[in-house]
Amino acid sequence: KRRLNAIAIDGPAGAGKSTVARRLAERLGAYYVDTGAMYRALTLKALERGVPVDDEAALVALLGETVVAFGGPNAEGVPTVLLDERDVTQEIRSPRVSGSVSAVARHPGVRAELVRRQRQLALHYLSAGRMVVMDGRDIGTVVLPEARVKVFLTASLDERARRRHEELARRGERPTYGETLERLRERDRKDAEREVAPLRKAEDAVEIDTTGKSVDEVVEAIVRLVEERLFNSVQGRKEEF
Ligand code: CDP
Ligand code: CDP
Repeated sequence: KRRLNAIAIDGPAGAGKSTVARRLAERLGAYYVDTGAMYRALTLKALERGVPVDDEAALVALLGETVVAFGGPNAEGVPTVLLDERDVTQEIRSPRVSGSVSAVARHPGVRAELVRRQRQLALHYLSAGRMVVMDGRDIGTVVLPEARVKVFLTASLDERARRRHEELARRGERPTYGETLERLRERDRKDAEREVAPLRKAEDAVEIDTTGKSVDEVVEAIVRLVEERLFNSVQGRKEEF
């Protein structure tokens, strides 16, 4: 099977996917694609336009006139997310968007189009000789099944809720810890139970439990994995990466 020089990172909410993926991409000089941001941007636009999140045809039509792009890093080093050229990096992380995004992401028509765009983006950078790091829920299973390295990040529900709670507090939002935990659990349930491309570990993915581990430790573990795949392939000969 033809392999792609891509690293696929999947896992439930709060496992550390985007933080780890971003740092990993910096380390490797790779191009980073946050696929969750694309689902979130469409969700924000639907909420603003009053498009019901259960109306698949209307969402697909809306997506057809929507451009989601990634810009350079903002002050916090987070790549900016551009919805029709508007910077929505902060807005797409709001509880309102988080609460509706799984309902939008459940529709096969929405997924087909976003998966197409995600693959196209990855192949564009890969063909230019860049390595690609992509994170989401179905990267190793659907978007880039040929990725050379696949990682499934997990952490206990309690730790994931604690991380999300701290992140919301930093942004000045004050849900209780219990509310944060319940919302996280509910989103995981929807993402894992949906019919199309549910959250699951790819057969050939390496699972890393990040509970009690620092971001650096997790990034290091993945860098080692990438190096292994790089140096141990084809009788110890360095494979083109
Ligand atoms: O950062 P967090 O894990 O909270 O979420 P995200 O990665 O930004 O993704 C937000 C939502 O988009 C998820 O809960 C999924 O419903 C959906 N999603 C998806 O279905 N497939 C992807 N590849 C990425 C995100
Ligand atoms: O993308 P996902 O929802 O999987 O997680 P995230 O948005 O990257 O949020 C994870 C949060 O936990 C961030 O605030 C990280 O600094 C923190 N964290 C982590 O990502 N990984 C660890 N091993 C420890 C903490």
